[in-house]
Amino acid sequence: MAAQIISGKEIAQQIRAELTQEVAKLKEKNITPGLGVILVGQDPASISYVSAKEKACDAIGIYSDDNRLSAETSEDELLGLIEKMNNDPKINGILVQLPLPKHINEAKVLLAIAPSKDVDGFHPVNVGRMVIGEKAFLPCTPHGVIQMIKRSGVTLEGAEVVIVGRSNIVGKPLANLLAQKSELGNATVTVCHTRTRNIAAHTLKADIVIAATGYPNTITADMVKEGACVIDVGVNRIEDKTRERGYRLVGDVDFDAVKEKAAFITPVPGGVGPMTITMLLYNTVESAKMANDLL
Ligand code: GUN
Repeated sequence: MAAQIISGKEIAQQIRAELTQEVAKLKEKNITPGLGVILVGQDPASISYVSAKEKACDAIGIYSDDNRLSAETSEDELLGLIEKMNNDPKINGILVQLPLPKHINEAKVLLAIAPSKDVDGFHPVNVGRMVIGEKAFLPCTPHGVIQMIKRSGVTLEGAEVVIVGRSNIVGKPLANLLAQKSELGNATVTVCHTRTRNIAAHTLKADIVIAATGYPNTITADMVKEGACVIDVGVNRIEDKTRERGYRLVGDVDFDAVKEKAAFITPVPGGVGPMTITMLLYNTVESAKMANDLL
């Protein structure tokens, strides 16, 4: 039987409706959550992500401060802008879109963002707090993935979860959150990566497979257990001359074949992507509440 499609778009809409109400309540107290957005350079995928994030802010009443900087911007200039935002009470969250141009030290930039405004959850202070189970901004894609699983009624507690990919943004934090003794976790987690000898041997045992490799067709139907839940974090542009823009988006999962075997599957686009943006909005609203002693 074909899998139930988990629509990130629909779940994101639910959460955004909840957030719209929260923002309206904050506005009654004269508080408008603000997000400072910084994009350095002209990477087409980054431009489209940043535009989507700003549009989403606007739709729920979050103020966004748009900063598009040239690819030649110096590290010092970028650090200066971050410092200004750190000290600006109208800004509750700071988003520096990654990747940054090669001449800028990414780790140094992430470290410059005040942890209290780090709505991406990338600052080592927030990463550390998350790992030890203290209150922290959770990274948006991992948190979005967990919300999708939970809101689809798929059981996490006790589930065998296999994550394919070990990036700082997705694989590592997801593994950590899912293994924690918390309502977002309580799963048994395996992390597969480029040095794993036999990825299929692991994924075939998984109740939930999460693909975050950055390569199309990493997860094929023969790698998935009948009735599994498959979450596709990948966003890959592949050439498609039949499309006006010359490409189409695919995930890391062979969607058409895997959907015949899985019980739940996320599409690309319309899956994890809208959830990532939604959890950024969520963190920005939380940050505004914290800054005003409402949490
Ligand atoms: N680049 C790819 N994903 C992300 C993200 O979640 N946040 C930021 N800042 N940059 C990214």
